[in-house]
Amino acid sequence: MRLGVLVSGRGSNLSAVLGAVADGRLSGIEPQVVVSNRPSIPALEVARSHGVPTVVLRRSDFGGDAAGRDAAIGHTLTRHGVELALLAGYDQVLRPDFFHAFGGRTLNVHPSLLPAHGGRGMLGLAVHRSVLAAGDRETGVTIHDVTEALDAGPVIASHRLAVRPGEGAEELAQRVLELEHRLLVSTLARLAADRARGMPSATMTAAATPATLSRRPAEDS
Ligand code: GRF
Repeated sequence: MRLGVLVSGRGSNLSAVLGAVADGRLSGIEPQVVVSNRPSIPALEVARSHGVPTVVLRRSDFGGDAAGRDAAIGHTLTRHGVELALLAGYDQVLRPDFFHAFGGRTLNVHPSLLPAHGGRGMLGLAVHRSVLAAGDRETGVTIHDVTEALDAGPVIASHRLAVRPGEGAEELAQRVLELEHRLLVSTLARLAADRARGMPSATMTAAATPATLSRRPAEDS
């Protein structure tokens, strides 16, 4: 399954996926390209260190036309033969032009149990602060199909995690991130295996487990 990954920052999920490909745990996944909306981010170094081609497409490269940039992202994935696109810490909402230009499947990983603590502004530590402010006893990770509705596409996999009494947002973020890495790798493995067997993709849900941090660059792109 030919994979394209969209990133905007640190790239720990990208690192988890490319590491799993490198050590043979994701033999059915073939990374083709990593696309970023920011030029100088750690995620691009992660891609380069694994020999995966990178493309940077800033809104400013398109005269501020975000729709034009999103179309270019879709065309880039299509040109690289990508079948499955993964948003791994991509911090912009994709406009319809993206979906017109890329006919494959697009997945997102989100650090909460959607629909709770999703939607506009629910990025990085804001998600975990929201969980704690609500007094939730559990949170988790959701992997879902990306549609034009933010954080609202069909859920592919989710995994719950108990919030510890007195836990702070940063500690919770670290545990959730570790869980993201594991769920992402296992979900991609399942999707690739299903594809190889000619099966439709399954929905997966599991119970509680452990996990690391979320930070986003402040500047726009
Ligand atoms: C992750 O928490 C992911 O769920 C969210 O953004 C964060 C990205 O982290 N969408 P990283 O860049 O993969 O380290």
